[in-house]
Amino acid sequence: MIIGGSGLLGKPLVEQWSGAHLIVPTSQEVDIRNRETVRAAIRKNAPEWIVLAAAHTDVDGCESNVEQAFAVNRDGPVNVAEAAKETGARLLFISSDYVFDGTKKTPYETGDPRNPQSVYGRTKAEAEVRLLQLIPECCIVRTSWLFGIGGKCFPDTILKLAATRPALDVVNDQRGCPTYAPDLAKAIVQLCEKNARGIVHATNAGDCTWFEFAQEIVRSAGLDTVVRPVSSEQLPRPASRPAYSVLSPGSLRALGIEMPSWRYALERYLCQR
Ligand SMILES: NC(=O)c1ccc[n+]([C@@H]2O[C@H](COP(=O)([O-])OP(=O)(O)OC[C@H]3O[C@@H](n4cnc5c(N)ncnc54)[C@H](OP(=O)(O)O)[C@@H]3O)[C@@H](O)[C@H]2O)c1
Repeated sequence: MIIGGSGLLGKPLVEQWSGAHLIVPTSQEVDIRNRETVRAAIRKNAPEWIVLAAAHTDVDGCESNVEQAFAVNRDGPVNVAEAAKETGARLLFISSDYVFDGTKKTPYETGDPRNPQSVYGRTKAEAEVRLLQLIPECCIVRTSWLFGIGGKCFPDTILKLAATRPALDVVNDQRGCPTYAPDLAKAIVQLCEKNARGIVHATNAGDCTWFEFAQEIVRSAGLDTVVRPVSSEQLPRPASRPAYSVLSPGSLRALGIEMPSWRYALERYLCQR
């Protein structure tokens, strides 16, 4: 069962599993905030695995809509985990690099302490803790900077802006790992096949700042828009983001899974777009 199958990650997840017996309820059919609906759907379908990719992903919006953010991102996953526990379904939950504060200078390992700096990060961190309490053998996949076809994402925004503006200002003091949703979907399928448990970090290989990412997007798309580096202070946003949230690939590698570089992922995204 894939919950969140219409999202940026959900769509390629559904495609990856196209040969399998798949249940993909819409958010109208199964709103994860509704404990009884969640329970009924999981009981009825008795899935072997539940991949929970549903979330309230508007990071800035979460700051002003705290109740909704916690209801979807923490209480929803708890509802799913309780039902999964009842039926014995394996659970894989998608979490985020924003559970970290960004003060490290080397890639975050799975055991590093959580210290979220935003409401969104807090919702994800609290969900992780609750899920591990409920189902210690569940799998939590932290990822970052997702991009993909058919949804709002950074490369899409940059390309749209670059088409109408001669220059773009992009922050150069936040470093992370861009992740192409189809590559992550592939890794998630492998994680389920390998019966993975515990926390895993899964991103495309390599890291960059948003400015470097934007530069590469504009260059690869053959546009002559100028990309200018600015600081987060110069472009304030409602939610604070970690200055450094590179996730170490060690946990994924330990399971024999490798993800390609974000530059190669971007090339494929631009071809498919
Ligand atoms: N996007 C990123 O940069 C990023 C980075 C790190 C981690 N993540 C995590 O990766 C996962 C996938 O993110 P994404 O970017 O694919 O998300 P997305 O494109 O925003 O899609 C969110 C999905 O969740 C569903 N949903 C929202 N509220 C729901 C509810 N109350 N009940 C049931 N379903 C609900 C949506 O359904 P509708 O379409 O019907 O609304 C949609 O299928 C999330 O857990 C996210 O937190 C994302």
